Amino acid sequence: MESHRLPQHVVPTRYDLRLEPDLDRFTFTGTETIAVTVREATAEVVLNAAELEVTEASIEDGTGVRLPGMVEMDESTARCRFRFPHHLTPGAWRLHLSFKGNLNDKLRGFYRSHYKDQAGTTQVLAATQFEATDARRAFPCWDEPAFKAVFATTLVIDPALTAVSNTAVRSELVEGGKKVVRFKDTIKMSTYLAAFIVGRLEATEPVMVGSTPLRVWAVPGKQHLAGYGQEIGAYSLRFFEDYYGLPYPGDKLDLIAIPDFASGAMENLGAITFRETALLLDERTATHGERERVADVVAHENAHMWFGDLVTMTWWNGLWLNEAFATFMEMLAVDAWKPEWRRWEAFGAGRAAAMSVDGLHATRPIEYPVHAPKDADAMFDVLTYEKGASILRMLEQYLGPDRFREGVRGYLRAHAYANADTGDLWVALERAAERPVPALMDDWIFRPGYPLISVKVDQQGDLVLSQQRFTYLPAAAGELSAEEQEQEKAQRWQVPIQLQVTARGQATTQRLLLTEAETRLALPQGFESVLVNEGGHGFYRVRYQPGLLERILNAPERLTGIERFNLVSDAWAAVVAGLIPLAGYLDLTARFRGGRDRNLWGVIIDSFQVLNRLIAPADRPGLEALVRDRVGPAVAELGWTPSAGEMEIMRQLRGDLLRALGTIGNDRTVQAKAAELYGEHGRATPARELDPNVLAAAVSILAFSGDGGRYEEFLRTFRAAANPQEERRYLFSLPLFQQQALHEQTLARTLNGEIRTQDGPALISAMLMSVYARERTWAFVKANWDKMDQVFPKNGVRRMCGGVLGLATPEWERDVRRFFADRKIDFGGKVLPQYFEQLRIAVTLREREGKALTQYLKRSL
Ligand code: BES
Ligand code: ZN
Repeated sequence: MESHRLPQHVVPTRYDLRLEPDLDRFTFTGTETIAVTVREATAEVVLNAAELEVTEASIEDGTGVRLPGMVEMDESTARCRFRFPHHLTPGAWRLHLSFKGNLNDKLRGFYRSHYKDQAGTTQVLAATQFEATDARRAFPCWDEPAFKAVFATTLVIDPALTAVSNTAVRSELVEGGKKVVRFKDTIKMSTYLAAFIVGRLEATEPVMVGSTPLRVWAVPGKQHLAGYGQEIGAYSLRFFEDYYGLPYPGDKLDLIAIPDFASGAMENLGAITFRETALLLDERTATHGERERVADVVAHENAHMWFGDLVTMTWWNGLWLNEAFATFMEMLAVDAWKPEWRRWEAFGAGRAAAMSVDGLHATRPIEYPVHAPKDADAMFDVLTYEKGASILRMLEQYLGPDRFREGVRGYLRAHAYANADTGDLWVALERAAERPVPALMDDWIFRPGYPLISVKVDQQGDLVLSQQRFTYLPAAAGELSAEEQEQEKAQRWQVPIQLQVTARGQATTQRLLLTEAETRLALPQGFESVLVNEGGHGFYRVRYQPGLLERILNAPERLTGIERFNLVSDAWAAVVAGLIPLAGYLDLTARFRGGRDRNLWGVIIDSFQVLNRLIAPADRPGLEALVRDRVGPAVAELGWTPSAGEMEIMRQLRGDLLRALGTIGNDRTVQAKAAELYGEHGRATPARELDPNVLAAAVSILAFSGDGGRYEEFLRTFRAAANPQEERRYLFSLPLFQQQALHEQTLARTLNGEIRTQDGPALISAMLMSVYARERTWAFVKANWDKMDQVFPKNGVRRMCGGVLGLATPEWERDVRRFFADRKIDFGGKVLPQYFEQLRIAVTLREREGKALTQYLKRSL
């Protein structure tokens, strides 16, 4: 169990690191001097290294005496061990190492990235991605978050190139035909936050945030796309300095767009790296979703400069302290930047995504044991991010935003330049809030799942609230032991509940902490209705006695956006869990035909997508008609053109509705109109400008209804795209085509180098979820597994396999399970059991509701 962890008898305090990458040969050499403290006499020093060759090792004491070291590499645990001829006495030593390695193409460690310059020539740059456990692939180090040290990096590069690292440049000179760039010392920080990028990079002028210069970097020719990211970058940096009450901990801040990037972005202190779509953006042509994405990611990474970089979780089991906070803070900052976007409302979808995984028996607590590196990788999921952020929001609302912020400030101050655990956060929050935090919070962080709150009025006329764990499948179906099943049943939470009771036309808010299985409240005279989870911040679902639900639905205008969203989202979850019949839910969706709320429409459209994957082909026309019936009226009212001064989120809604109508609604009129407008738009002087949200929807619609000619056209547009968003839009239109011959082409392109490996897995996942492509795609995945495993980044393969959810028949389900078992595939943590259970839920839903759905569609046709 402990075999992956490093011993603590020797610890680092400082790395003087010199690296010389060769961008022609894809190799690098390095030397480093690590200042260490020997705590107990030892003849052996153990640290991490992977896929590196250590060519020289020695250790030096305070008087300059050097001992040679024997090197022993163990690739299976990614460690190297140095043995010295005699014991090192406790005290300060300096470990000298020389090493070499390859600039790999796996988007981790020290890796290479390719792009075409403006002349069409392929260019290479070198970048790093170290989180969670890949700094050890670039230089030997104590690669665990608690071994914080100072880094002083030097890069030796081709004089034509530029180097960026965590801190400002201390000196730059040319020596023997090479440019030697020395960077200033970093703060004490974890290895996974070190970064260096080398290439033909260009920066914007800095904007100053206080005394911090903030720049955006990209490969040449993309500077005109940098302004938007720089604006939210500067805004959010200022916002966080203010919120945290602490200055930004670095000496400069660079935001760098890298053409090949495994995740969305990475919070390296002072040198945040991004995939291009998450930083660069053309303000004239971007959709609302694309704008929100850049704002989110930039704000998120900036939030990490404090949460994660200044104060770091002690070990990966506490990853939520980094990621949940960054996600929560991202929302606060973006909400402050553009209140009209209603960012917290949109977060309802994030909360719901977390609830859908956390409703599995195979879920895990937010804090969860991590042993091997792949377990650390598996922690980057919706439970850490979205459940974690939801729990923080719930707590913030419960304690009050001011006290919560006081607690956060206290926590950061107490643990700056060091590491912390969840318990440390509780201590700080408790001090600020003067309320017992651990008793309230521990169940949410250390136990899996969440409650379903059932609401009824009993015979005495009292309101009764009760809690039990929400799961989609009965415990027996979840591969749990009898004991685990009992535990699930007995699980209780301390649930902060905000409810709104309306009596005699007057609504009043009540707050209570539900700690027992059940609680009763007297209802006022003239009781009309009760809404549980007012404001929508609670991480639980609500199930109303039918009469109570009816009362709420009779006055839907009283609900806020989040409340309406939660109501429909809970209803859909109840269908999937078999608690209410599908027909009831489909009737419910009819009540929201007139709605103008993008999040609400999001749940409804998603639920139609799920049904679309479950129905028999013969039922598809019926489902298409149902979609047209639900979505059509809103589209008819909104039209294709925004009115003057219309809100951005309304434009987004228009795009979402058109896309739904033109694809799963298969509306011929919409398809024809999309083709017409798209054709006009393509002309040199279009008759009218197409709103970007409508244009993006038209691209999806035309792919969905398009032929080989359209495919060729979109493929060309993808290749010649003017900006990252356009490139992405056309690339992800490819899975929407319906013809098998075109699927064949797209699949082949994911493995022949035409499509970047950062995008291939997501594309394949989309095809596994497509009713037209899934069968062929699954066969392709099985046949090409080894190749995929070899060329795609690791996180990509894991996420790609989430697409098996689309394979919702009993036969496919068996085949999927067999495949992963035969191949002994394990993504760490609970990733695979979660995919399997989600697939089981989909198959169960199909078997339970299939007939009812057929009948419902017949009736409503
Ligand atoms: N720390 C992560 C990057 C990361 C993700 C490293 C997975 C290693 C494994 C970063 O802060 C992050 O969370 N990025 C997100 C975007 C964010 C806005 C949610 C991502 O990459 O998707
Ligand atoms: Zn993050």
